Amino acid sequence: MDKDIEKILLSEEQIQARVKELGRMLTQDYADKCPVVIGVLKGVAVFYADMIRQIKVPCEMDFMAISSYSGTSSTGKAAVKKDIDVDIRGRHVLILEDIYDTGNSLSFTLEHLLAKEPASLKVCTLLDKPARRKPGITFQPEYVGFTIPDAFVVGYGLDYNERYRNLPYVGILKPEAYEK
Ligand code: IMP
Ligand code: MG
Repeated sequence: MDKDIEKILLSEEQIQARVKELGRMLTQDYADKCPVVIGVLKGVAVFYADMIRQIKVPCEMDFMAISSYSGTSSTGKAAVKKDIDVDIRGRHVLILEDIYDTGNSLSFTLEHLLAKEPASLKVCTLLDKPARRKPGITFQPEYVGFTIPDAFVVGYGLDYNERYRNLPYVGILKPEAYEK
């Protein structure tokens, strides 16, 4: 275990097992739909790479990036840093996300993509932290990997100041690591 990690919340094995389960559901639900699977960078990169290989239907990959978050607190403001390339009008779209926290990022992403008039738009998030949801945000993702308690987590794509994304598990940082 990395020296800055206090506790492993989700092991590599737990994550991989859940990714396979989600893959089975998505493979069923998207049969014959040729979905456009959109990853929201960068936090989703590791989950995306594992997840896409478990969605065993013809599909297209695309990515977008939004700016909204730095350090451990959400600013509540979002902007598109990188838009998708594929024309999603009339297409079935699946958003992959790393974590649904306050909901600011996902609300913004949903609004941005809905304006492009897809045939359907669903969300698969690896992690859901419902305790942190901003009042008024009631959206419920169709697919959730794990519902987790209110703690700041890193690993498996998730960062603290751009570090720890390469850990193969999801862990809770030691408080000392924030002071670095
Ligand atoms: P939201 O807009 O507050 O829902 O936050 C969504 C984004 O904030 C995620 O896509 C992450 O990039 C980041 N984030 C939220 N919670 C955590 C966490 O516990 N660890 C690392 N990043 C987080
Ligand atoms: Mg994210």
